[in-house]
Amino acid sequence: MSRSVFITGGSRGIGLAVARSFAAAGDRVAVTSRSGEAEEGLLGLKADVTEPEQVEQALAEAEAAHGTVEVVVANAGITLDTPMLRMTENQFEEVLRTNLTGVFTTVRTAVRSMLPARKGRIILVSSALGFLGSPGQTNYAATKAGLLGLARSLVWELGDRNITVNLVAPGIIDTDMTKPLSAARMDGLMRTTPLGRLGTADEVAAAVRFLASEEAGYITGAVLPVGGGIGMGH
Ligand SMILES: NC(=O)c1ccc[n+]([C@@H]2O[C@H](COP(=O)([O-])OP(=O)(O)OC[C@H]3O[C@@H](n4cnc5c(N)ncnc54)[C@H](OP(=O)(O)O)[C@@H]3O)[C@@H](O)[C@H]2O)c1
Repeated sequence: MSRSVFITGGSRGIGLAVARSFAAAGDRVAVTSRSGEAEEGLLGLKADVTEPEQVEQALAEAEAAHGTVEVVVANAGITLDTPMLRMTENQFEEVLRTNLTGVFTTVRTAVRSMLPARKGRIILVSSALGFLGSPGQTNYAATKAGLLGLARSLVWELGDRNITVNLVAPGIIDTDMTKPLSAARMDGLMRTTPLGRLGTADEVAAAVRFLASEEAGYITGAVLPVGGGIGMGH
């Protein structure tokens, strides 16, 4: 059955792959980003997750076009890497505002719609590096680990409403985000990735689709790693 799906950061990378995969299955898909760009077949909405009013407006437009949101994928995220001793408060907080507060805002907005329907799927895009730690990424890793506490608290709040909340934890995925990594850093990351290669955005999308499926109805509060084995056991 076709569902109304809302994805933040769906103009490229993992978010776009997730959007394509829902759309290919017949769902009605809205994607947000700061640029507002979207390819044909997706409803593109310009909304910065750090601006609550923009997120609310985007969700209202998505619902006007597609009906009450049933699946929300909080995917928008950024990196601003630098060793902590050189990191400014602004660099720390900008990543928190996007990757953590932005997820809070997105999910709170969507949950208000989902509650009366008494069904829903919430999937947050975390990262293997949030659990492993990563040099130069104290800000980023803090947000990605923070999503676990956010999700698991929400699991308790929404359990009796038939709404599940889960995380995917991608490893090193071939997108714009990983392009700036130096060859030496990439080498190091590949040595700690048993499959020895980058993942694709489509491979992450497949995991998101599973968590959003009917079949995943009894899975909530889980972290699904999609990292070629990086950080297994964490
Ligand atoms: N690539 C990896 O190896 C990897 C690994 C683990 C986890 N992740 C996570 O996966 C998610 C997607 O990453 P990606 O690799 O696909 O990155 P990406 O290619 O850089 O795409 C990021 C997306 O988020 C949007 N975005 C950024 N800031 C935003 C904001 N303030 N408001 C709304 N949209 C915003 C971007 O569009 P605009 O720039 O137009 O806003 C874009 O659509 C992120 O949460 C990232 O942390 C990635």
